[in-house]
Amino acid sequence: MRQLVVRPGSALRGEGFVPGDKSISHRALLLSALAPGQTLIRGWLPAEDCRATLRCVRALGVQVEERERPPADGRLPETAVDLLVDGVGIDGLREPDNVLDCGGSGTTMRLLAGILAGQPFTSMLTGNDALRRRPMDRVAEPLRRMGATVLGRAGGRLPPLAIQGGRLVGIYYPLPVASAQVKSALLLAGLFAEGETVVVEPGPARDHTERMLRAFGVRLEREGPLIRLKGGQTLQGMGGVALDIPADISSAAFLLVAAAIVPGSEVRVRGVGINPTRTGLLDLLAAMGADLEVAGPEAEGRSRPWDPRLAPPPSPVGEPTADLIVCPGTLRGIEVAGDLVVRAIDEFPILAVAATQAGGTTVIRDAAELRVKESDRIAAVAMELSRMGARVEELPDGLIIHGPTPLTGTVVDSHHDHRLAMALAVAGLVARGETVVRNADVIHDSFPGFVEVMQALGADIRWQEQP
Ligand code: S3P
Repeated sequence: MRQLVVRPGSALRGEGFVPGDKSISHRALLLSALAPGQTLIRGWLPAEDCRATLRCVRALGVQVEERERPPADGRLPETAVDLLVDGVGIDGLREPDNVLDCGGSGTTMRLLAGILAGQPFTSMLTGNDALRRRPMDRVAEPLRRMGATVLGRAGGRLPPLAIQGGRLVGIYYPLPVASAQVKSALLLAGLFAEGETVVVEPGPARDHTERMLRAFGVRLEREGPLIRLKGGQTLQGMGGVALDIPADISSAAFLLVAAAIVPGSEVRVRGVGINPTRTGLLDLLAAMGADLEVAGPEAEGRSRPWDPRLAPPPSPVGEPTADLIVCPGTLRGIEVAGDLVVRAIDEFPILAVAATQAGGTTVIRDAAELRVKESDRIAAVAMELSRMGARVEELPDGLIIHGPTPLTGTVVDSHHDHRLAMALAVAGLVARGETVVRNADVIHDSFPGFVEVMQALGADIRWQEQP
């Protein structure tokens, strides 16, 4: 295991290369596997979580060739690959001859559970210690209603899961939580079901699955919060059109917040996915007073302040992208609740760091889901930022953070959570003295190259073997 050593230092300046979107990388691979013929995925994220999906897809009989991408624009070779997927078609998966290991990836386990529920064979899904503590009843229960047998520990709630796929029937299912993973699992199962599957969303969870299903020729309809998908549809091949993965806004978030709080910084991140279901952090940073600009490829060189109303309209397929440019502003505390929480669900560890540097109080509510992420992010953020001197109170469904507070470098822990590790490293950039983030290798779950990217921007950050 390694730890990160961070010291405050110079301003962050320049262009930061951020690797491909994790959510979209999972979906591109899964749907390419279910489509007939070859699909080329460009700029796929070779992080641990996506590698878990790749392992599972191969174990289900799908051939995938991995090709290195030539390094470009200062990008490190290990941060992006191309995949050539030999899709087997909707009925082509074969029974795996061993347990499928999802590592630490909740998206892998939940999305695969949906696909496996529709297969005429038995499969087993397991994962690492952290994943085996995360709730799976949210997918298991509706998949059982559709006709699959799903067994798990703790009365069927926890992994490992054993899934005997069945002849599924479509259901009408109001989601109890605004979860893209559950929504996606049900839509994927719905492909194999007789009749219509209708999912009702309580909030705007990321819609990458819907967009990509459409890109593969699947018809689904949206009526307000309802998504309808008729079973028995097959995916169409991409006909030689490559799937391009945009840079992950949830990884860019660490660079954006770092640039917003380290005096004198100016950071640009190119080609970031700005799907409106993912841009909550941009709205929040703008509301806090950060100097945040957006530039589209069509307006090369020119930029304008971020305004969610000016965000690109949701396109029927594909994902909008833009360059994002951030400089520090005088930050002030804000209140976050409701749909904004869903649209920024992975960004709360780093938002909390920004809040420690903002004048006034930041209140985050309606965010109880944070307790069942890679760590209990409410408890872990409160504990680790408090160690650095932040004034943080825990709520059952959120956090209260008082700022601005000078932070002090000390030894903190990632709780084996990639986003917490990176958020604490960014906090170290504005702390007095040295910050040590223990158990930081976990960063590779989503952002290979994070340390090198931060160094290239001027951050004083380095790996060290953990004693
Ligand atoms: C994801 C959905 C979100 C998010 C996770 C990735 C996805 O989880 O937190 O990091 O790719 O579908 P939930 O569906 O549990 O909200």
